[in-house]
Amino acid sequence: MFRGYHAVFITLFAVACSKLEPAAPAEDSLLDGPVEGLSNEEHLRFLRGDVAFNDEVFHADNGLGPVFVATRCGSCHAGDGPGHPSTTLTRFGQSDANGNTYLDQGGPQVQHRAVPGVAPEVLPDNAPSARFLPPLNTGLGFLDAVSDADLLAWADEHDADGDGISGRPNWVERKTYSPLRADAVEQAGQVIGRFGRKGAVYDLLQQTANAYNQDIGVVSQFEPIDPYTHEEQDPEIAAATVHDVVFYLRTLKAPIQRDKDNPDVIAGEAVFHTIGCGNCHRAELRTGPSPIAALAHRDFRPFTDLLLHDMGPGLDDGYTEGSASSAEWRTPALWGLGLFPDSQGGTYFLLHDGRAHSIAEAIDLHGGEGQAARDAYQALPASDRDKLLRFLQSL
Ligand code: HEC
Ligand code: HEC
Repeated sequence: MFRGYHAVFITLFAVACSKLEPAAPAEDSLLDGPVEGLSNEEHLRFLRGDVAFNDEVFHADNGLGPVFVATRCGSCHAGDGPGHPSTTLTRFGQSDANGNTYLDQGGPQVQHRAVPGVAPEVLPDNAPSARFLPPLNTGLGFLDAVSDADLLAWADEHDADGDGISGRPNWVERKTYSPLRADAVEQAGQVIGRFGRKGAVYDLLQQTANAYNQDIGVVSQFEPIDPYTHEEQDPEIAAATVHDVVFYLRTLKAPIQRDKDNPDVIAGEAVFHTIGCGNCHRAELRTGPSPIAALAHRDFRPFTDLLLHDMGPGLDDGYTEGSASSAEWRTPALWGLGLFPDSQGGTYFLLHDGRAHSIAEAIDLHGGEGQAARDAYQALPASDRDKLLRFLQSL
């Protein structure tokens, strides 16, 4: 539940028991909560989605499973921050041009838990696979509202400018239930994926319907095939609830930078750009039109280009998704980075599977298109490296 609402109660109690109540957490220390400027009606919708996302727990009698990974969205996306190694998903097989050859063995995702009497799935021997740590969910509506044309303008698939960086979009199939975006650019009937760590998901509706289906075993009118029986089933969740959750995700506020006037933080951002981090982790983005006024034509600073980059053999897990090769990952936004430990048990688990235990280690593991920036980082004088890290922690 969004803690800001608890703050209202805390304020009401404050007069009576100011000595007993802890201070409400500062807004810039929280990742959850709605974007500013929602209408009353939009606010109510946000709250309905919030309850469905965080509080609605599934069990065998209301649709859970029979095979599943967790019982509600919020168990893996606590406080809308990034997840922990204990909440990773394992995907396997291939989703490339040949199709996923492991579908009859439970692909594309391992459901390692099951309701009583049903055998949970195991990862088949030798199946190519990758582990995915839950990313933070805040600010997704802003990323959603960036135009396809912007993404294509930043892409440089064949590295025409010779800077060693060749970002490209993941071209994916659009599900028939996902409406085509007004600004969509299509290529050979495919659309640009922008969600998920490999950018294989077209929109937040697909992400949500798929999460109910693959993570919780809950079928909807959008994704009606049960992951265990492989047969079509009547919906176990109302379409309106799925749409409310999509609205909630879309209207989660963008993380707020802290300490942004600190001279070291300002100097650290300059270092970030000088050594080329900002070529992929793009600082300044702008949304296009949006039916939600609070999201339309806004400048925001997520530090991503939403494009795929080949990150070298060290980050190659052998698992493909859509047109993303096994070494390609979508640049993650860096906003909220300094708050990650709050939802990760007080420490850091970074990169797609949480293998990096500090910001410095995540940078050290950049290879492929990220190698030049990593080398430049490692060659920095210690004081510049400290300022860069200080800046990253302020995000
Ligand atoms: C078992 C843990 C788990 C559960 C339960 C879960 N998720 Fe996720 N979620 C993940 C992981 C792991 C990823 C990253 C997957 C990927 O990158 O392909 C993810 C990705 C996402 C993303 C994409 C964010 C981005 O930056 O692209 C959204 C949105 C999301 N989940 C929403 C939901 C919703 C809505 C539900 C409930 C219906 C849900 N999740 C349930 C683990 C979970
Ligand atoms: C070629 C594009 C590219 C460049 C240049 C680049 N990055 Fe990255 N960065 C990525 C990608 C892609 C990932 C995700 C890799 C993964 O998940 O395995 C990533 C991951 C990260 C992460 C982990 C984020 C998370 O949520 O787990 C941090 C921190 C980071 N980069 C900081 C930097 C810094 C600092 C620089 C400059 C020294 C830099 N990056 C340069 C593409 C790039």
